[in-house]
Amino acid sequence: MAQVHVMDHPLIVHKLSLMRDKYTGSKEFREAVEEISSLLCYEATRDLPLKEVEIETPIAHAKVRYISGKKLAVVCILRAGLGMVDGILDLIPSAKIGHIGLYRDPDTLQPVEYYCKLPNDIESRDVIVVDPMLATGGTANAAIQFLKNYGVKNIKLLSILAVPESISVIQEQHPDVDIYCAAIDEKLNDKGYIVPGVGDAGDRLFGTK
Ligand code: URA
Repeated sequence: MAQVHVMDHPLIVHKLSLMRDKYTGSKEFREAVEEISSLLCYEATRDLPLKEVEIETPIAHAKVRYISGKKLAVVCILRAGLGMVDGILDLIPSAKIGHIGLYRDPDTLQPVEYYCKLPNDIESRDVIVVDPMLATGGTANAAIQFLKNYGVKNIKLLSILAVPESISVIQEQHPDVDIYCAAIDEKLNDKGYIVPGVGDAGDRLFGTK
């Protein structure tokens, strides 16, 4: 069964509280999304393999460890996932970035694909899927299935907020995919928004309505 890592850390709790406040403007909202994404990425990359290398420090010969050439890709679910990418690139600047555009049909709430551009060796990379709001879970579920159809074997999902039902969807459909999030909120409302949530993350990131 997939693990759910809820990052209950004071820095994350503080930044998420800023995101929740409806009076927080786009600039601060964007910064909080970016910073929380870095912190989630920090935890999600805890198992990256290291290799030992011998170097000279200014003082002595030393054995040190570097990350051992693991090929990573970040796949961002448009549009709100864009807000998470820079925070991850701050920590993993060499990661390749893919984009998947899936919108939620407002009537069925089902994901419909409208855009996909992935690194051409995506099947040989470990992939971090980013989607800040895991609401119904339908979009992330479809994106993960899409990546598996391309041959991707190792996937982690980073979301800022989730609800119990979306966690269940991912756990049932993709028991091999670990989820990293800042909090699990109470429920969805009848329009598919997370309660208490942050509102529409895409609109708040990009200042649209
Ligand atoms: N997408 C959002 O941006 N916010 C929600 O609460 C749910 C889906």
